[in-house]
Amino acid sequence: MAEFTLPKNSKIKPGKTYSAPAGAKRIKKFRVYRYDPDSKENPRLDIYEVDLDTCGPMVLDALIKIKNEVDATLTFRRSCREGVCGSCAMNIDGTNTLACTKYISDVKSDVPIYPLPHMPVVKDLVPDLTRAYAQLAAIEPWLKTKSAPPSRERLQSQEERAKLDGLWECILCFSCTTACPSYWWNGDRYLGPAVLLQAYRWIADSRDEETGERLDALEDPFRLYRCHTIMNCTNTCPKGLNPAKAIAETKKLMVARKV
Ligand code: SF4
Ligand code: FES
Repeated sequence: MAEFTLPKNSKIKPGKTYSAPAGAKRIKKFRVYRYDPDSKENPRLDIYEVDLDTCGPMVLDALIKIKNEVDATLTFRRSCREGVCGSCAMNIDGTNTLACTKYISDVKSDVPIYPLPHMPVVKDLVPDLTRAYAQLAAIEPWLKTKSAPPSRERLQSQEERAKLDGLWECILCFSCTTACPSYWWNGDRYLGPAVLLQAYRWIADSRDEETGERLDALEDPFRLYRCHTIMNCTNTCPKGLNPAKAIAETKKLMVARKV
């Protein structure tokens, strides 16, 4: 049987514990992955005790409180703090999600927090998304037309517009892509659910005139067909979207144009 072991320098070691202030009554422990490539040290798990009576309700509130009041070196991305920008995606209590929309009270025990899985780590909770963004650029996510521009806007019927529901809401947090085992193993050639949902968003757009070319670009054993309908993507999406369905619709169009 194949045996997999982590290289010595990626094993996670116990880190420091930061106790709650004296007098704190409602204490919650956050077990946070820490990694600083400049230190040449292994990753570690630091424990921060937070007084929930002086903290907002979301996991992001706790991370900001820790950074502001306890440990300024803790590094994570965030911007909108309301589930719109996608930058605070991380693995919380075993699930990829958004720290700003995840209630602390939803985690019954200590709160384990790691970066999105299977991506190189820039620092602490910040994954390197360079490849994912390059893959997004490769599907050319913008309206492409061949006909002469109309004098006013390109119109859609209400039914045509409705086909984009469940697609346009994607905030590109990459929670789905980094939850996908196919992407873990073949991320260099498989585009992954987030990018494939974006690809289908333009394929499904009645105003786009390069549907054939878009399907041609996906007709490949890896780019599209490494999706094996594992469904982790749909199960984890913090916006309630269904990337697996978008991929299935794309596969159906591939078959339909051959018959
Ligand atoms: S489909 Fe959902 S999980 Fe995937 S990138 Fe879009 S919002 Fe994030
Ligand atoms: S901070 Fe923007 S989605 Fe969480």
